[in-house]
Amino acid sequence: MKAALLDFYENRKRYLEGLDGELIDDSIVYDRAFGFCEDAIMLIGEAPGESEAREGRPFCGPAGKNLAKLVESCGVKRERLLISNAFAFRTLEYSKSGVKNRTPNTQELKIGAKMLIEEIGIVKPKMIVLLGGSAEKAFLKIEDDLLKSAFRSLQKHEIKEISYDNRSLFIAKTHHPSPLVFNRADKRAELYEFFLRLNEYAN
Ligand code: URA
Repeated sequence: MKAALLDFYENRKRYLEGLDGELIDDSIVYDRAFGFCEDAIMLIGEAPGESEAREGRPFCGPAGKNLAKLVESCGVKRERLLISNAFAFRTLEYSKSGVKNRTPNTQELKIGAKMLIEEIGIVKPKMIVLLGGSAEKAFLKIEDDLLKSAFRSLQKHEIKEISYDNRSLFIAKTHHPSPLVFNRADKRAELYEFFLRLNEYAN
């Protein structure tokens, strides 16, 4: 799996060819802390930000600090987690003060979903957890009817077991750990509670 996954990350830019118009930073970003294990828990955020594009790894900025606290609190070994994004590249826009992050648009999330199908096919994770609205939107656009309908009928914080690709797959969705969400005591408590439950699937 390791060679196929690294090759996929090196060549993932090819998916950008179908996109036009919007600004995208095509720096390669992937989870360099993943241990290439067979029963990974895949966490899917939105898109890389400035720090992520610079460092080449997801969730290393402010949202990443919150995610690291959640991971540490639940006791799941970091190498068991594969952190990915609904869109694998940083999306940008111009503002008065320079360039800033932009939420990936519908077309980008559709392309992002194609990238995720390929990534999931290589990794064959034991569990997929969507972190927030962009990841949820990407899965509503995914060209895989089984995954699409399974995620569509899933409630927030429900963990469901489905049969996918001739194996069992657990699926779930929770909040995105952005500072905006994490600074709200109610959402933060829900995130901590949800992450604790991941421990059960990490053995
Ligand atoms: N937020 C995300 O959703 N993904 C990242 O990689 C960083 C911040």
